[in-house]
Amino acid sequence: MSRADSAVRQPSIPFGHDGRSKPLIPGFAPYYGTVLGDAYLADSCRVMSGIPDGTVNAVVTSPPYALHFKKEYGNADKQDYVGWFLPFAKQIFRVLTDDGSLVLNIGGSYNPGLPTRSLYHFKLLVALVEEVGFHLAQECFWYNPAKMPMPAEWVTVRRIRVKDAVEYVWWLSKTPWPKANNRGVLRPYSKDMERLNQKGLQKTTRPSGHNIKPSFSKVSPGGSIPPNLIEDETPDDLLRFGNNSANDVYTERCKAAGIKIHPARFPAALPEFFIKLITDNDDLVLDPFAGSNTSGAVAERLGRRWIAVEREEEYLRASQFRFEEPLLPPSALTSPQ
Ligand SMILES: C[S@@+](CC[C@H](N)C(=O)[O-])C[C@H]1O[C@@H](n2cnc3c(N)ncnc32)[C@H](O)[C@@H]1O
Repeated sequence: MSRADSAVRQPSIPFGHDGRSKPLIPGFAPYYGTVLGDAYLADSCRVMSGIPDGTVNAVVTSPPYALHFKKEYGNADKQDYVGWFLPFAKQIFRVLTDDGSLVLNIGGSYNPGLPTRSLYHFKLLVALVEEVGFHLAQECFWYNPAKMPMPAEWVTVRRIRVKDAVEYVWWLSKTPWPKANNRGVLRPYSKDMERLNQKGLQKTTRPSGHNIKPSFSKVSPGGSIPPNLIEDETPDDLLRFGNNSANDVYTERCKAAGIKIHPARFPAALPEFFIKLITDNDDLVLDPFAGSNTSGAVAERLGRRWIAVEREEEYLRASQFRFEEPLLPPSALTSPQ
């Protein structure tokens, strides 16, 4: 893969094509820019060193995991993972505002040659809290039923493990009181909840000892409070703009241009959930391991400023497709006879 550094390159699309005259990071030339954000082709530790203290509201990112089978963009080994990640974590901590959050998507992994799981992502979590100073706001999960049944040896051949369908999302904050508002991520009520609301509840005590009052079943305006499990497609997203529309445009354009699709994207629903939960309009969102820049594209759509950093030029070049209009379907290109 070709690695380059936009600090010494001309951007392929001039940044600030909306009229913004300055890049978001002083002294670094972005590879491309949009109305609200800049994408940098560089090592993110180096680029983050140019971001002033306490100026980023949220970091939403997915670093290379410590996988046994390496991805083409390179992954640190499990035993070295915490040491590899800490310099990035210290920069992230420094650039976050006091009410800012780090949302870290990280996948689990098996120990080589054994049907047992590695603890590397838990060790990372402990180090982020105990060594860097983060607080664990909440542990969340990305439910991804499309994951492959791996390792085949344990799951499909010997049949001694089940299919993995979640990834971890550590929501960490700089102080115990990060900015957050779950009204930003409410979902439509289920039919059952609406029926319950109409019927009402009797005062009762659950076997767990929890007292249920009649007011418990009253729906609050706006929708139901979601759980800490983020799914690829929530009805709310689909109604608004089709959750994976960002990924669809991107993959369509990559295929049409014969460009490699990023092999480890997260769904738009993941950054969307957290950007709505922990940021406001015009806040600044950073993704230091941007890949195909899913986070930047979602931030732009939601009216947040963004900074993306990726060190592989091929990925960053293709990520520009996310900021273009969708391709018209073939039927729209043929004029009616
Ligand atoms: C798991 S992928 C992120 C995918 C992204 N969330 C998306 O939806 O496309 C991790 C990315 O981090 C990039 N990366 C690894 N080390 C980096 C570094 N030091 N600076 C910038 N990018 C880096 C890799 O090239 C890879 O594209």
